[in-house]
Amino acid sequence: MNLLVTGGAGFIGSNFIHHVLRDHPQVNLVNVDALTYCGNLENLAAVKDHPRYRFIKADIADPEAMERIFAETRFDAVANFAAETHVDRSITGPAVFLHTNVLGTQVLLDLTMKHRVPRFLQISTDEVYGSLPETGAFTESTPLAPNSPYSSSKAGADLLVRAYVHTYGLDAVITRCSNNYGPFQFPEKLIPLMITNALEGRPLPVYGDGLNVRDWLHVEDHCRAAWLALEKGGRGDVYNVGGSNEWNNLALVKELLRLLGKPETLITFVKDRPGHDRRYAIDAAKISRDLGWHPTYDFSSGLKTTVDWYLANESWWRRVKSGEYQKYYQEQYRL
Ligand code: NAD
Ligand code: DAU
Repeated sequence: MNLLVTGGAGFIGSNFIHHVLRDHPQVNLVNVDALTYCGNLENLAAVKDHPRYRFIKADIADPEAMERIFAETRFDAVANFAAETHVDRSITGPAVFLHTNVLGTQVLLDLTMKHRVPRFLQISTDEVYGSLPETGAFTESTPLAPNSPYSSSKAGADLLVRAYVHTYGLDAVITRCSNNYGPFQFPEKLIPLMITNALEGRPLPVYGDGLNVRDWLHVEDHCRAAWLALEKGGRGDVYNVGGSNEWNNLALVKELLRLLGKPETLITFVKDRPGHDRRYAIDAAKISRDLGWHPTYDFSSGLKTTVDWYLANESWWRRVKSGEYQKYYQEQYRL
């Protein structure tokens, strides 16, 4: 099987590549990534020369570059992880979110149709559903109500995928996952930012009252869900993915400080994110019932192993925070 993975140098994409190379020996992988600020080939250093893996630097929204890639290999499936993903950045600069998340997805959909690739997986997010009150959970029939430029662009991509299924008969499937945590997450997102700031003795910026709620899932569980959806998901179907594991931000940050043995005095309340979604929670009954997916990590041990990973990989996150990581691929890949 020839699989095109986009965005494979990012957090979830790189974990997915490790997962597939380890657990699915029938798969040859091509990883296409533009290497934006959060694309980091150090995440894939262990598989750089793997016989079933190849990296190509390209922008998914560049139709000519992507046409060459689709023409060169007869793909059996496309898994689209590539995206601009940070909500705060989408608030200060929405344009690049529309470029990659909407136009990039459209380019991939067109080429998937043109080259008759039999299967397309769109990695989406629970943020397309907007914000929840204190109770309830998102199901696949919850209306789309995105609140940030990031989530609007992801919802736009989902609607395009839906339209290509209905108009052109494309065989596509969408997953909508809750917040991920684990190794190789860029330290602008809550968990790695708080761990690394605490280790550096810097303030931990908690937005607003700190009582916004997220539903946390280990990235490896997301990767297994993505693979199952790609392999067995119904044509045109959407699958919510989540861990039934709600935490408010303040409680989570305190737990991280406890695991690190650092003082709560590092917590600093800062101005809230504009339009900050209050609560996300996922009802994952459909993927559990139809595809047999269940989370395997329990949060207390998953969080502890994640903290341990950042402790053991200090050079990785220090190189990311200092910008040194971008020299790695320039040297190793002559890019
Ligand atoms: P990330 O920001 O860590 O990585 C994104 C990757 O996409 C990077 O390697 C980047 O270089 C690449 N990229 C960006 N623009 C590109 C372009 N134009 N062409 C090619 N590559 C490009 O993101 P992540 O957290 O790994 O998220 C991956 C996917 O999962 C995204 O689609 C995101 O919406 C979705 N998702 C993320 C989470 C989460 O908690 N992180 C949860 C649910 C869904
Ligand atoms: O729900 C899935 C989404 O989760 C993904 O689609 C996004 O790509 C991913 O970035 C994530 O979005 P969030 O906005 O939920 O993640 P973030 O890590 O930015 O923030 C998590 C919560 O922590 C949120 O309520 C904002 C808060 N926060 C975040 C940062 C970076 C803080 O209080 N302080 C911070 O410094």
